Amino acid sequence: MEVSQTSAPALSAEPQQQQQQQPEARPAAATTTSTVDAAALDDAQQQRGNGALSIAHLEGISGITAGDVRKLADAGYYTVEAVAYTPKKMLVEVKGISEAKADKVLAEAFKLVNMGWTTATSMHERRAELIHITTGSSELDKLLGGGIETGSITELFGEFRTGKTQLCHTLAVTCQLPVEMGGAEGKCLYIDTEGTFRPERCLAVAERFDIDGAAVLDNIAYARAYNSDHQVNLLIQAAAMMAESRYALMIVDSSTALYRTDYAGRGELSARQVHLARFLRGLLRLADEFGIAVVLTNQVVAQVDGGAMFSADPKKPIGGNIMAHAATTRLSLRKGRGDTRICKIYDSPCLPEAEAMFAIAPEGIIDAKE
Ligand SMILES: Nc1ncnc2c1ncn2[C@@H]1O[C@H](COP(=O)(O)OP(=O)(O)OP(=O)(O)O)[C@@H](O)[C@H]1O
Ligand SMILES: [Mg+2]
Repeated sequence: MEVSQTSAPALSAEPQQQQQQQPEARPAAATTTSTVDAAALDDAQQQRGNGALSIAHLEGISGITAGDVRKLADAGYYTVEAVAYTPKKMLVEVKGISEAKADKVLAEAFKLVNMGWTTATSMHERRAELIHITTGSSELDKLLGGGIETGSITELFGEFRTGKTQLCHTLAVTCQLPVEMGGAEGKCLYIDTEGTFRPERCLAVAERFDIDGAAVLDNIAYARAYNSDHQVNLLIQAAAMMAESRYALMIVDSSTALYRTDYAGRGELSARQVHLARFLRGLLRLADEFGIAVVLTNQVVAQVDGGAMFSADPKKPIGGNIMAHAATTRLSLRKGRGDTRICKIYDSPCLPEAEAMFAIAPEGIIDAKE
């Protein structure tokens, strides 16, 4: 299966229909209220690539030059959304962008991106259109309200061998499937910090869904991250790639492993949290800007504060409140009997605390056999 390079992303349901009406629209995020210039926005939507508007669209308006646009892109701002979501104090840090220029850039970006008030009705409609990516297990999908949600961050945490990496491999393939098969019709970006990515595992999943393995691998952009600075830098390149082509999923496996090695001592804890917060903010921005699903894995550590004595589950995920705030949906994985695993909703804005069982099989994540 070949994922289209040019079609617009709109990681919302029924893209076929939408593509016919509006080839490059992004309904999920661009449904607007009447507070913005509708004509300008329509025009902007027509030119949208991967769900976001290229930064080049600011060129020539309000004295913004090609040079200014290049400076912004060099600093990692590839889309109008990227600048619109950035506070002014960060824009003036871009080399060659003055305070007056930052004001102009922001003013123009706000005209093209709807950042004002909306109604709960329109929010509800947008959420109904949100695509969920299948995990490969129908029980797990049911628990998650359809699968992994696009446009937000899902964290998978648990001890070793609980299936975090296996689930990532399955999702890297299923995100490419057509929507009616539980996919999001987009490519996958995979940041691997532990060297555990195995293309063979993706081929096995592709075979299960009867799709072309070679095309599936071509649609997975892979990067090995070697340290926490590198991990953050990879996000800047990722934004550039997403502005070019339609991606549906970003995986970071594991999101915290490098932080544990780069910041070892207790004295480095606050520096570690600041760095981790920066990384997670970058991921959130990608989820907002491009409507992709972000899936990150996390390890657990024994609680050292004495809580272990009173708690049934003494292990807790790494990253403290920084991680807790960044991840919209937090899933706790644990071992079951044999190849079965249990997923528990640990935190979610709309899903109850419930559990589902799934299994790890040669063909990826599947339902547990009774
Ligand atoms: N080809 C396969 N067929 C069936 N099961 C497999 C296959 N490959 C790996 N597994 C199973 O997957 C499990 C490992 O899961 P996974 O690598 O996802 O763990 P993890 O949660 O990522 O652990 P860690 O914290 O160490 O990264 C093992 O129990 C292993 O038996
Ligand atoms: Mg792993």
